Amino acid sequence: MNNPSTKKIYLITPHMSDNAYELKHIHTAFETNWIAPIGENITVFEQGLKAYLNVPYAMALSSGTASLHMALKAIQIKPGDVVLCQDLTFAASVFPVLYEQGIPVFIDSDLETWNMCPIALEKALREEANVKAVIVVHLYGLPANIEIIKDLCHKYNVMLIEDAAEALGATVNLKQCGTFGDLGIYSFNGSKVITTSSGGMVVTHNESYYKRIQYVSNQAKAPTRHYEHHDIGYNYRLSNVLAGIGVGQLNVLEQRLARKRAIYALYKKHLSGLDGVTMMPENIHMNPSYWLSCFLTTKVNPLTIIEALETNHIEARPLWKPMHQQPIFKDFTQGPLKNSAYLYEHGVCLPSGTALTDDDIMRIIHVIQGCF
Ligand SMILES: Cc1ncc(COP(=O)(O)O)c(C=O)c1O
Repeated sequence: MNNPSTKKIYLITPHMSDNAYELKHIHTAFETNWIAPIGENITVFEQGLKAYLNVPYAMALSSGTASLHMALKAIQIKPGDVVLCQDLTFAASVFPVLYEQGIPVFIDSDLETWNMCPIALEKALREEANVKAVIVVHLYGLPANIEIIKDLCHKYNVMLIEDAAEALGATVNLKQCGTFGDLGIYSFNGSKVITTSSGGMVVTHNESYYKRIQYVSNQAKAPTRHYEHHDIGYNYRLSNVLAGIGVGQLNVLEQRLARKRAIYALYKKHLSGLDGVTMMPENIHMNPSYWLSCFLTTKVNPLTIIEALETNHIEARPLWKPMHQQPIFKDFTQGPLKNSAYLYEHGVCLPSGTALTDDDIMRIIHVIQGCF
């Protein structure tokens, strides 16, 4: 048996359902020989997500990154188009802009949401030429100030894409994050709220965007008997076997969200009183997915905490390093982005896997308390 004090605790791990619903749907794919390219699991997974999110169109793809790429294809981003991107995020929120030779311009976060600051966004919308779209992120499952951002996009006539990769189940005024914009995307990689091992979904209210994504993500085949192509295509569809995992995981989505909320509440109860600690932001209009529990620390260096956890076989991480500090984006970076730099400097992401027990969380809390 594992010694409880040396059992490795990871930041996050995939969490299959107790009754292995996922395996049942994988078996169906084998039994019906719908291994690829399409099959019922994909249809059921898409239907399930559409019903949960209350959107008319959803397409399962091979990853969140592919979904974001297809969202940009749907709105026909052209080389040289400017896309206003959130500075504090994972690079996959921005890479697809480069796939299309767009120009990312980074927007600072605010400290109230940790996501795109509407004031900084409006300044960029006023000042930048040739802005085609905004990609806002609901980072760590914390909802962005999406209603105001949507109004701004409308006012300046630019498209809005939501990167809700980490935010399945997060809501603002009871509406699902990812469904406010022209298009939204989710990730189902192994670390996400629910997983298909690797996978993603793009959702929209717009039928023509959906049809374009269907076409481009499946090798841009013209509707002819022979194979004929007028556009560059991509092979981005989700496998029917992996969609089976997703169908099973939909059964436990509410349980996973409830457990994530409980994990955060336990951290908050024991950490929020520590000197210089601020937990991640919450407010009554916004219901996060609590994908990762995070906090800021200004008296004790985050690295001291991360290293103490590491010594105790516990994995923790800094917040995402902002895009303006990433070497790959150096040619696109203008000026300091104060808040995202501040958040990165002071933030810690804590283990948040839903299979962790309260005892595991208390073990983590005790190590952190020992740093103060
Ligand atoms: C904010 C954000 N955007 C996009 C992605 C990309 O998703 P995927 O790993 O499924 O390609 C991720 C996942 O890691 C993410 O966290």
